[in-house]
Amino acid sequence: MTYNIGVIKGDGIGPEIVTEAVKVLDAIGAKFGHQFNYTQILMGGCSIDATGEPLTDEAIAAAKASDAVLMGSIGGNTSTSPWYKLPADKRPEAGLLKLRKSLNLFANLRPAYLYEELKEACPLRDDIIGEGFDMMIMRELTGGLYFGERSTKEENGQLVARDSLTYSETEIRRIAKRGFDIAMKRRKKVTSVDKANVLDSSRLWRKIVEEVAADYPEVTYEHMLVDNCAMQLVKDPGQFDVILTENMFGDILSDEASMVTGSIGMLSSASLNDTKFGLYEPSGGSAPDIAGKGIANPIATILSAAMMLRYSFDLDAEADAIEAAVKQVLKDGYRTIDIMPRDGSNVKQVGTVDMGTLIAERL
Ligand code: IPM
Ligand code: MG
Repeated sequence: MTYNIGVIKGDGIGPEIVTEAVKVLDAIGAKFGHQFNYTQILMGGCSIDATGEPLTDEAIAAAKASDAVLMGSIGGNTSTSPWYKLPADKRPEAGLLKLRKSLNLFANLRPAYLYEELKEACPLRDDIIGEGFDMMIMRELTGGLYFGERSTKEENGQLVARDSLTYSETEIRRIAKRGFDIAMKRRKKVTSVDKANVLDSSRLWRKIVEEVAADYPEVTYEHMLVDNCAMQLVKDPGQFDVILTENMFGDILSDEASMVTGSIGMLSSASLNDTKFGLYEPSGGSAPDIAGKGIANPIATILSAAMMLRYSFDLDAEADAIEAAVKQVLKDGYRTIDIMPRDGSNVKQVGTVDMGTLIAERL
């Protein structure tokens, strides 16, 4: 089969990590007899530099014309990069938000899994790690604070800023259904996270999630307040299977969850709509501080490519092969700097390109 993949390398470490994921995809194509065609798409700071816009209409059209999009990361150092002197809607992140919205990518899946081999890189105590953990953060991606009306105005002699948080029943129901569907294929537990003790949007969230839960009698489900969830993630991460939550809470909790797995460099993600199309990207950012040094961990991007094969192309065996190759490389003792064990013994530190090659060789 032939698949057309849009590729957004982006900024910072983006180009380096995407190059390794493409290397792995090409190795999969050769092994399983698929042809992957790539179309480069500009987004983020590199698009601003080239076109003045973080995402052009042509870029959106190119993404829409693809079967799926693989992305690296976008953005720069928010204190020093000239991109952050631009108005908010012209900054790199605005491109990503526009892409998510234009393609209706409302369901963001962020798996957080502790590899046996990376227990040493996990910042939690052994008794907390226990048997390890394997959770899926389901983050609503096209609503809430990210897309509400915002303004900064002078009122009574001082500046006042507003961001509004809106959720409709429809928006809540469709992500909740996705969350329960995914739970049915996993350990059948959903923790819906909100701030219903304070926010109206969370009270509606809770009501709709309860309605959806009634259609999934096999799934155990609970509500948890977001502050408690932040605490539980470091106290007892093994309790979670699917964490279902709104946009802003999901942004924050997914970074936290990734860190308990040892490194954000391991966390893949998929952003899906109602079709087979998806945008696949590592959960981490553009890490401008290490860009160009050849030390970034490409595994999250490689695992995102595996998610693309699984969710957009239904190529489960191929996705399994990539995941197995990643596990094998870790078992063989290769680590990028971010996942080096505390004592550094018995493992070999490698850079971005070598890590990609080692994974491709194990397919
Ligand atoms: C993420 C990122 C984005 C977000 C930024 C880059 C806008 O942090 O994908 O988690 O907040 O959604
Ligand atoms: Mg984030």
